[in-house]
Amino acid sequence: MTENDIAIPKKGIARHKVLAMLKDFAKDDPNYKKLKTWSLVYFLGDAHTDFLLKAYGQFLSANGLNPMAFKSLKRFENEVVRMTADLLHGGREAAGVMTSGGTESCLLAVKTYRDMGRAEKRIRRPEMVIPETAHVAWEKGAEYFGVKAVHAPLRKDMGVDVDAVRKLVNRNTVMILGSAPEYPHGIIDSIAELGEVACDRKIPLHVDACLGGFFLPFMEKLGYDVPLWDFRISGVTSISADAHKYAFSAKGASVILYRSVEILKHQFFVYENWPGGIFASPALLGTRPGGAYAAAWASIMALGEEGFIENTRQMMKAADRLKEGIRAIADLAIVGEPKTPIFAYTSISKEVNIYAVADQMEVRGWHIDRLQRPDALHVMVTPLHLKVAMQYLKDLKESVDHVRGRPELATTGGAAMYGMIAHIPLRSMVKKSVLKMFADMYGPDAKMINPARASMADEHSAEKPDLATRAALWYVKMREKFKR
Ligand SMILES: Cc1ncc(COP(=O)(O)O)c(C=O)c1O
Repeated sequence: MTENDIAIPKKGIARHKVLAMLKDFAKDDPNYKKLKTWSLVYFLGDAHTDFLLKAYGQFLSANGLNPMAFKSLKRFENEVVRMTADLLHGGREAAGVMTSGGTESCLLAVKTYRDMGRAEKRIRRPEMVIPETAHVAWEKGAEYFGVKAVHAPLRKDMGVDVDAVRKLVNRNTVMILGSAPEYPHGIIDSIAELGEVACDRKIPLHVDACLGGFFLPFMEKLGYDVPLWDFRISGVTSISADAHKYAFSAKGASVILYRSVEILKHQFFVYENWPGGIFASPALLGTRPGGAYAAAWASIMALGEEGFIENTRQMMKAADRLKEGIRAIADLAIVGEPKTPIFAYTSISKEVNIYAVADQMEVRGWHIDRLQRPDALHVMVTPLHLKVAMQYLKDLKESVDHVRGRPELATTGGAAMYGMIAHIPLRSMVKKSVLKMFADMYGPDAKMINPARASMADEHSAEKPDLATRAALWYVKMREKFKR
């Protein structure tokens, strides 16, 4: 059987063999246990993972669809929501639900405010004002729910330009967004100022704290200078905070909280005429994964405030060490002045192509996320990264030295591809091509694209080029076309 000719095996395979196959499939995955991965995995060590597995496993089949069926799940959800409300100063009035992740929480906020704007202000052409650095989940929400995303530019410090926000809101604005912090550069928008706009114009303000929800409160307790950003700001009407990020839970857990149940009501879905019964759903999903909610509850309970504080202390120590070390490497600079354990760095010299640096870091075993506008590399620190911070800096210095003065490295490998795609002027063409590539990835010829193959692309190969090579060829052609 070929890879593209897969069907359910006629006869089941012994479970132990299937498990061995799974292990084998995972061998090329990013090795997060070696702490060389940033942002994809929030790993607190094997003991914590085993603990989550037990909590998750116990509720693997439990379904949170009907809150009246599995009372245990409703209890986990209630308690996670209440603990989060307490942490974020929502008091007893705040109300919310657990969701499957940050994206679901963001999508729900868009849907909620669209419906609230429609019900309370008769807004038919809804718009939302979001910072340029808003997570892409908000663009997705805009597209899915037919709400126009109006992008507010940034100030020099990379926080959203609140004067611009004030000018961009209009009668159709159903919500304003601020991030605490934003994903690309770890900057916290000025929520206090956004709150003033929200109050003046009587427009809901959502704070996307999918990242910061479970570490900013502990940074504050540790004495870091964290500006107020949560429900203590009077204009803030809702907050999203992901448990599967900095509450170190299993994948599939986030919280969306509203200042009051009156707002939350706009999120609910009820259909009373279905032959399957009267259907009511608090969030986006139908079946809701009990395991994820149990693991989130378990993780928060096991860490306790002291655990969160200690984790945050270590993260900040690692992040400060990394930022200081990066600032000391010639030709590199941190983007903006992030105060959080999330940040990006860029090259300030033509001699050093930052994407080529990423390629070199990957040669040294690091899994690196590339950003664009500006070209930069991303770092999201978790507590255990403290163990590898010095190694990262050593490898980074070596990588920069290797790349410096070798312009050819910018035109090969991942650097060529990312560089080209970030700078190609016709953005709609990039979108079209990526859509085409996705269709290939998820179509019958499904295979994985490995960007590093770009350099190996050989148009004249005798074999039919695989998807990776076709992608690479496309990039190479585009690069030629747009060479200046
Ligand atoms: C600020 C912010 N919002 C939303 C999301 C989306 O979260 P998820 O990937 O869990 O859907 C992320 C993910 O990193 C994020 O950083």
